Amino acid sequence: MSKPSVLDCMRRVKPLHRILADAENPQHKLKRTLTAVDLTALGVGAIIGTGIFVLIGTAIVGDTVRLGAGPGITLSFLLSGFACVLAALCYAEFAAMIPVAGSAYIYSYATLGEFIAWITGWNLILEYGVASVAVAIGWSGYFNKLLQLAGLHLPYWATHAPGGPDGGGLVNLPAVIIVLLCTWILVVGIKESARMTTVIVVLKLAVIGFFIAVGADQVKPENWTPYMPNGFAGVGAAAAIVFFAYIGFDAVSTTAEEAKNPQRDIPIGIIGSLAVCTLLYLLVAGILTGMIPWQQIDVNAPIATALQQLGFKWGALIVSVGALAGITSVLVVMLMGQVRIFFAMSRDGLLGPWLVGVHPKYRTPHHATWMTGIFVALLAGILNIGAAADVANIGTLFAFVLVCIGVVVLRYAKPDEKRPFRTPLMPWLPIAGALACFALMTFLPLVTWIRFIGWTVIGVVVYLVYSMHRSRLNTEPSLP
Ligand code: ALA
Repeated sequence: MSKPSVLDCMRRVKPLHRILADAENPQHKLKRTLTAVDLTALGVGAIIGTGIFVLIGTAIVGDTVRLGAGPGITLSFLLSGFACVLAALCYAEFAAMIPVAGSAYIYSYATLGEFIAWITGWNLILEYGVASVAVAIGWSGYFNKLLQLAGLHLPYWATHAPGGPDGGGLVNLPAVIIVLLCTWILVVGIKESARMTTVIVVLKLAVIGFFIAVGADQVKPENWTPYMPNGFAGVGAAAAIVFFAYIGFDAVSTTAEEAKNPQRDIPIGIIGSLAVCTLLYLLVAGILTGMIPWQQIDVNAPIATALQQLGFKWGALIVSVGALAGITSVLVVMLMGQVRIFFAMSRDGLLGPWLVGVHPKYRTPHHATWMTGIFVALLAGILNIGAAADVANIGTLFAFVLVCIGVVVLRYAKPDEKRPFRTPLMPWLPIAGALACFALMTFLPLVTWIRFIGWTVIGVVVYLVYSMHRSRLNTEPSLP
């Protein structure tokens, strides 16, 4: 047989039956233990975190590279949430149809060909890996705040990344330590992690409910006018920031191989968790901007500080503890999502075979987990939160665009395949989803685009030099 050309390699798709068979291979198999409730909790666990507790502040007030939304932040959340719902409906069709680890990466592999699949997987590293970095830095901020409330102070150099506006930082040690701790939890076993996530999710929802209940009484409607002080430019820029607050619903689909009844439960987990979070975000955003004039909202710990500004110091303390726990659960799920992506890419031969090692006792992909944890910990020690979040957003939005396109392609390429969940309003809903996600990308700063394009170029080189040749579709082309 002649060697396939580069174009042939780029275009080859992984047949659906082979994807499903690989997941059944006992050597690489993960345990099926998660129920619909576990999955919804996992979704909420992945979604509510640094976005609503930290980044909402910058989205309202603005920063050096963009305008803030002011009270128009509620519209920003609606726009961003709308794009996510459209993408989620596409994810749900794929996740129910191809219930294996790998998420958007695997969906692209089945539809748009190996090259686009590789690029999707490469961008999912931004979504999960780099988002984990931002989440860990957000965690560290709240940790320092709590210590301060307790009258304790860690040295500045040990709690801040190098560079930054105030200088003097060396390494963000709390961020490094929390990442390594969560990594260890993941190696020990998914069921334990999911159980812990469920407890934390309840705590996190309670704290948000508490903020809504206490804050609603303090709302002064005059704070809501003017509604869009910086016009639509501010609202759009904020929508692109708070998109981070929605990242994570697709993490549910990355655990499809570990779900007991993936066909039914994955769509429930994805759409259910997204619906809960959207509602809560709108309430929090509306109440926060009603409580405090938008220019005075804090950018480091906006939710806790708003309570403090109105004299509820104990409330600030409660919110800080809840935020810390909530952000921890996001970190666990995000790291787990990254590990599952590495695992799936490595199983296909596109990344080194070492990564598929499953722990003999815990049955977790421990090699991929440690590698992810160590990289994320290193970056969390030295990066700035805003830059990490922007890069995570652009990579995720791009992956969403590809998923929306992929779902349409597969409907035409494989119309008769069993689809336990069907995306409604085909093909208009996925097209609207792709356009909405792309529109959000256009609101991100230029420097983020440059980083995103640089990362993609590196990905293309790695594909051409390594992955294309090592792909199992290349090395074992004759498998059925
Ligand atoms: N949505 C997650 C968060 O806001 C990533 O922390």
